[in-house]
Amino acid sequence: YDKKDLVGKKVLVNAGTTCEDIDPVRFICNRSTGKMGYAIAREAAWRGAQVTLVSGRSFLQPPAGVEFIPVWSADEMCEVMLKKQDEYDIIIGAAAVGDFKAANKAEVKLKKRDKKEDKLVLELVSTPDILRELGRRKKPGQVMVGFAAETNNLLEYAQRKLEEKNLDFIVANDVSEEGAGFASDTNIVTIIDRQGEIKSLPQMSKAEVAVAIIDKIVEILKKE
Ligand code: PMT
Repeated sequence: YDKKDLVGKKVLVNAGTTCEDIDPVRFICNRSTGKMGYAIAREAAWRGAQVTLVSGRSFLQPPAGVEFIPVWSADEMCEVMLKKQDEYDIIIGAAAVGDFKAANKAEVKLKKRDKKEDKLVLELVSTPDILRELGRRKKPGQVMVGFAAETNNLLEYAQRKLEEKNLDFIVANDVSEEGAGFASDTNIVTIIDRQGEIKSLPQMSKAEVAVAIIDKIVEILKKE
């Protein structure tokens, strides 16, 4: 691989789904497989970076040569990311972080017969917004990239997240589109940067999307 343009850079990537326990056997998670984030970690390592991959639940093999830190919940992922933030030049949030967790985790398995009615009401509370926390503490010169997984109003919502989380650019994917988003081997993304440049890419493999993301990061680093 000839493009060793990330030598000397440290990259922190998160990927996969976070999981929130309801009781000792049940949890809430989402459809993320980790394919997108693992492809980014792999590409960054190929291009010479020192890469740390913080991964929620995923059945993928961690890429070779990458420091791998598995986590379970959004709180755990947040703690690791915040602790590591300062050491890294580039931070990429590809994980599908759950926005809610059970208000109270049951200590023992919830029983059917505990229910007097034929329903169970689960109270949920918010998890931390990891990228927003990192964005608040962003160091000068640090490059931060996020994703936006949307099913409607793609560009408007993505632009809002770009600003809220203090990112350099955001990778928007319409997860309701065929061949894009969760679990698919391909993705269809639009990259929106801080200067308002909007670039829509055709359907491509997640490995190719990873190349486009790293190319854009290298471009930003060159300008600094
Ligand atoms: O893993 P795959 O199966 O390959 O699927 C890829 C993907 C669809 C998961 C990926 O392309 C993607 O879109 N990842 C972001 C999913 C997501 O949580 O999007 P969001 O729009 O809800 O969040 C916006 C950004 O904030 C994301 O970078 C997310 O990591 C981050 N976030 C969100 C919520 C939260 N509590 N903390 C966060 O850091």
